[in-house]
Amino acid sequence: YEKSEVFFMQKTWYKEKVVYQVWPRSFCDGNGDGIGDLEGIYSKLDYIKSIGVDAIWFSPLFKSPNADYGYDIADYMDINPEYGDMDTFKKVLAGCHERGMRVFMDLVVNHTSTEHKWFKEACKSVDNPYHDYYIWRKGKGKNGKKPPNNWLSTFEGGAWEYVESVDEYYLHVFTKGQPDLNMDNPKVREEVKNIMKFWLDMGVDGFREDVITYISKREGLPNAIPIPVAAGMEHYNCGPHLYEYLKEFHDDVLSKYDCFTVGEGPLITPEKVLRFVTEGDTQVLKTMFSFDHLEADCFMTDWIKIPFNLKKMKKCYQKWYDAMNGKGWHTLYLENHDHPRIVDRYGSLKYRVESAKMLATMCYLQRGTIFIYQGQEIGMTNIELKSIDEFKDMITFNNQILFKKLHISDEKFIKMANRGSRENSRTPVQWNDGPYAGFSTVEPWFNLNPNYKEINVAAAEADENSILNYYRKLLKFRKENEVAIYGDFKQYYKNSKELFVYERNLDGVKLLVVASFTENAVDFKAPDGIDLSKGELVLTNYNDSALNGNGFKTKPYETRVYLFK
Ligand code: NOJ
Repeated sequence: YEKSEVFFMQKTWYKEKVVYQVWPRSFCDGNGDGIGDLEGIYSKLDYIKSIGVDAIWFSPLFKSPNADYGYDIADYMDINPEYGDMDTFKKVLAGCHERGMRVFMDLVVNHTSTEHKWFKEACKSVDNPYHDYYIWRKGKGKNGKKPPNNWLSTFEGGAWEYVESVDEYYLHVFTKGQPDLNMDNPKVREEVKNIMKFWLDMGVDGFREDVITYISKREGLPNAIPIPVAAGMEHYNCGPHLYEYLKEFHDDVLSKYDCFTVGEGPLITPEKVLRFVTEGDTQVLKTMFSFDHLEADCFMTDWIKIPFNLKKMKKCYQKWYDAMNGKGWHTLYLENHDHPRIVDRYGSLKYRVESAKMLATMCYLQRGTIFIYQGQEIGMTNIELKSIDEFKDMITFNNQILFKKLHISDEKFIKMANRGSRENSRTPVQWNDGPYAGFSTVEPWFNLNPNYKEINVAAAEADENSILNYYRKLLKFRKENEVAIYGDFKQYYKNSKELFVYERNLDGVKLLVVASFTENAVDFKAPDGIDLSKGELVLTNYNDSALNGNGFKTKPYETRVYLFK
């Protein structure tokens, strides 16, 4: 073993965990106002636990005017009144801990809300002590009426907004309602550390760190390569002081607690991730999310679709495994609140149940901490909205403007949104086939997917062969078999456009995972040296699992997992 590998092989709780992501607004409404909330969450803790989950990551629960549904925070130390109050949060926290589940909060410190008191103070005058909490510049041009540089927001036109009271522009790389914090100001970093301490001292077990790779901007804020969205990113994604600031947060706060951290950063590469997560003295984050495995059916963004390319996806998994192996720990996920539903993308609506089970198997039996997004465990699907008024998200509205410029008709745009928008994952969770899908007692804040009559938790509970019950088996298997957690990873048939085949090995125990991404029958032959008849078939999505020699002809989206001891 190299030194790093010794560190790596240390077994740690968070490597073994299954995390469930709750996007609170659409999870469950406990007080009958059409909006998900903490009482609703509390009522479902037993359910979440029953899936085999060990921790919950809550998308922001904090006070927010919802310019970006919680990712614009008006008070980091208070709960959004739409969701409840601090006492209800503490009840949920205790309820999780009683059930052996940890709790991770969303830490959103690249930006605040314009409603945050720091920002309100900052706008009062350039001498206000909070002014330097944000990134301000004078306008350019003759009358100073042009923005300070050509950067564009990811969500909403230009990246600068003028404030008359100070005669300056503030930077917002997301919506106008999300002014970027000036992390170069040591006072801001103290605030971040206080926020971390506040929640950790309350008993919270860690953080998912929102666009954490954006917090350090290149000095001088130089002009950007002019691309139609997010121009400027090259000057703030993994900026000059990022590592230094993360190290400060780690050394001063995080290292003092047995807590988990998972960093989010768009377009992240293994080389960059390793800088933060390599185990040993230089580690500043426990793990990070990567994105490219979710780009096998699109070009750069979910909105620009290309046919699903299995080889592309397999290459990503291989790339991340190879890079992280022996050095650091990675994450495994298929969905979150920023992407359309996975069955619509990599699976098949015709074989929804089979393909959802196959996708979970191929993803979660690799090496990494598992993340499951609400509703994924019952195979929720994308929604079809009919008119633009039904959409809710700034990205959708911004894209409408962009695509109009490209002469894309409204009709075509709605089709694109129905396939590509992140709103697809934000429809209310479907609990039963009763009124409002059991999500609420009144009309929910956002459209329910009409398929809730068939696709819902109650129906899944009642069906032994449901996706939900398969998740339970899969997660139980992983928990009981260390090979599935710590084993190494080796792919076979890398060139196959239809099958994803890999094995895991640990201390003489072998796991073979076969996953078909097609409804066509494919002749699968066991790789050399593997005798399927000697293995135990531990998981599969079909009842009939006969062998044909040392192989089998796959059924649509079939998956089989063999264990060799
Ligand atoms: C990433 C979050 O996942 C996304 O939902 C949010 O809009 C942006 N960061 C801005 O906070």
